[in-house]
Amino acid sequence: MSQFSLFPQQSAIERLPTIIERDGDALVIPEGVHTIPATHGLHRFPGKFIPNLPRYLIREVLPPDTRRLIFDPFCGSGTTPVEAALEGRPFLGTDIDALSVLIASAKTSPLSEGDLDEIERAWQFHDYELYAQELVPKVENLEHWFSDVATRQLASIKQRCISFPAHQRRFCLVVMSSIIRRVSNADDQTQKTYVSGTLKKRPPEPKAIFPVFLQRAVQGMREYASLLPRAPQGEIVQADSRLFRPTCPIDDVVTSPPYIDSIDYMYNQMLEYFWLMTELGLADHDDYRRLRRVPMGFRRDSSSAHALPEALGDQRAVFEETVSTIGERSVKEGDAVRVFFADYLAHLRNVHGFQRTGGRYVCVVGNSLIRDVIVPTVEFLVALHQATGYRLIDRFSYEIRRHYMKFPRRSNSGTIKMDHILVFVRE
Ligand SMILES: C[S@@+](CC[C@H](N)C(=O)[O-])C[C@H]1O[C@@H](n2cnc3c(N)ncnc32)[C@H](O)[C@@H]1O
Repeated sequence: MSQFSLFPQQSAIERLPTIIERDGDALVIPEGVHTIPATHGLHRFPGKFIPNLPRYLIREVLPPDTRRLIFDPFCGSGTTPVEAALEGRPFLGTDIDALSVLIASAKTSPLSEGDLDEIERAWQFHDYELYAQELVPKVENLEHWFSDVATRQLASIKQRCISFPAHQRRFCLVVMSSIIRRVSNADDQTQKTYVSGTLKKRPPEPKAIFPVFLQRAVQGMREYASLLPRAPQGEIVQADSRLFRPTCPIDDVVTSPPYIDSIDYMYNQMLEYFWLMTELGLADHDDYRRLRRVPMGFRRDSSSAHALPEALGDQRAVFEETVSTIGERSVKEGDAVRVFFADYLAHLRNVHGFQRTGGRYVCVVGNSLIRDVIVPTVEFLVALHQATGYRLIDRFSYEIRRHYMKFPRRSNSGTIKMDHILVFVRE
């Protein structure tokens, strides 16, 4: 975490409103409320939490002791860690995806007023025509994705970004990343990264929108720093949640696991990967292709597959029937469903090994529709938790109204709108 010196007195801190309320078995969030304060709006991210949701869960569902460490094993763009920091709570976030880790790290690490002034000054006189050729991504068909003008200006933005000291550089690179899809020829809203032949896009030039996004990001960071009750105590680590071992025990988990085989994060953020390849620790495009197969739901085998039938308990028959119906329609997708749950089991067993007894595991999850078959993910996860040593103490639902990107949970089958919140105690 970056260190900084000045914080307002605790008593002067304004707290963000929760807004979400519980009504029986459902959470209610009024339409049209401002939900992306502080650094939450720094970067788009498919399947990102509405910040009010982890805020509600931290305030109302977790035990109130603010010393308890909150862990998000699938932290994505870092919504839970940001909210934990804003509540003055220690946090730990992991994600397997390097871009997620970059975004979540930038969002949770406050920059001082001095840092932000320096950043603003440096960009004021930026020359968008000045760039080094070696900063242009070495990707076949780059011109399919970006016009010459966009490529030159993005290279110049990158050149400036990497000239900053480390913590300022990360922030600027994330702002750069946040405009990449917009200035590309690719469709802005879909999960897949593709250039539409029918709907011709007229992307803005990077130099027209970068200053706007930068200004918004700087304001968000100022707001974040001013809302923090104390210096954040936590970190974001790139790790596989099936294997990761933290150096200290964790108290509570607040997370939303990936949806089964539905969001290919690396494909969705492919253009951002092109431009930030080195910064994300990738050697080349082959490395990118290899890493795409690693996240949960995308591998073809799992070390926990043999343990799955027993762990599913009384859900076993439904599970087998669900998988075989999907398998008849697509062998690959049937396998993907099986591997997803086996991977989730491996993750749970791993976390159970280092989570404190009595800690909460709060999981936000939805059922999926795959090849027109409803996968009752919620019931399967309840069974797996129970078999691993977690007791279900509460469950309620939540209507998804304001996902940042609007696409179905399973692109060729339809949308499922309800998410469920499962609250377990680690025994
Ligand atoms: C639904 S998203 C989480 C979104 C997050 N709550 C947010 O607000 O941004 C699930 C995340 O799980 C990550 N993931 C998939 N497999 C993983 C694994 N084996 N270990 C850690 N993270 C993984 C994906 O990269 C993705 O960022």
